[in-house]
Amino acid sequence: MGDTNSTSGAKIPNHVAIIMDGNGRWAQSRGLPRLAGHRAGTENLRRIITASVEFGIKYLTIYAFSTENWGRPKDEVQGLMHILEDVIDKELKELHKEGVQLRHIGRLERLGPKLHKKVLNAIELTKENDRLVLNVAFNYGGRDEIVCAIQKMIQAGVKPEEVDIALVDNYLFTSGTPDPDLIIRTSGELRVSNFLIWQSAYSEWYVTPTYWPDFNKEHYRRALDAYAQRDRRFGSLSQNP
Ligand code: FPP
Repeated sequence: MGDTNSTSGAKIPNHVAIIMDGNGRWAQSRGLPRLAGHRAGTENLRRIITASVEFGIKYLTIYAFSTENWGRPKDEVQGLMHILEDVIDKELKELHKEGVQLRHIGRLERLGPKLHKKVLNAIELTKENDRLVLNVAFNYGGRDEIVCAIQKMIQAGVKPEEVDIALVDNYLFTSGTPDPDLIIRTSGELRVSNFLIWQSAYSEWYVTPTYWPDFNKEHYRRALDAYAQRDRRFGSLSQNP
């Protein structure tokens, strides 16, 4: 109990994915502009990355900008682009030192050449790190990912009889990453929001009413403890009758 880096359950998920929801409502409840919520959410993300390393999580995927988020007001979209740039400018060195490997899932093309290049440089710089793989879903949508995979398979001349689950996995943005064991959604909404729709087939879900900027290490530990209590059957029968 005294060890702040341990969870009471022995089963630690290998891959945690997070829908960081509630930044807007967090800001609104304080009379602040929505972007202040995204900035507070970014500071929290930094703490949760460190906590993930401490908890022994190997893969962390965060939903930072969806293909549907382009429909938000222009200043909010631009603000989120700036936040991504800022995170790379200000945090990359430290993340690299902490052994974090950065990856991106989604389409980079629409981000603008400068930001596009920064993301590629960050991926290149950290590619040998192995304490935590941080997958940043930015301009990501699960349906778009599947469309993109089908396009790539057709371009590669894949024959219908060659298509199976493992092959589709290889054509997704997440190729080489194990499926998420646990998906956390903050701020209480009970929906998938186009996040990892293929990969989450047998993920465990944890939804908390806490807004993302307030989701701290103790909340995280509770999510991991809840996960440790789950009996994962993958459509089969319990291994622990
Ligand atoms: C959902 O909250 C959150 C987002 C759309 C953006 C999440 C981004 C961050 C936490 C910043 C970190 C980003 C990067 C690039 C590393 P919402 O705005 O939908 O909240 P609401 O439902 O309360 O309006």
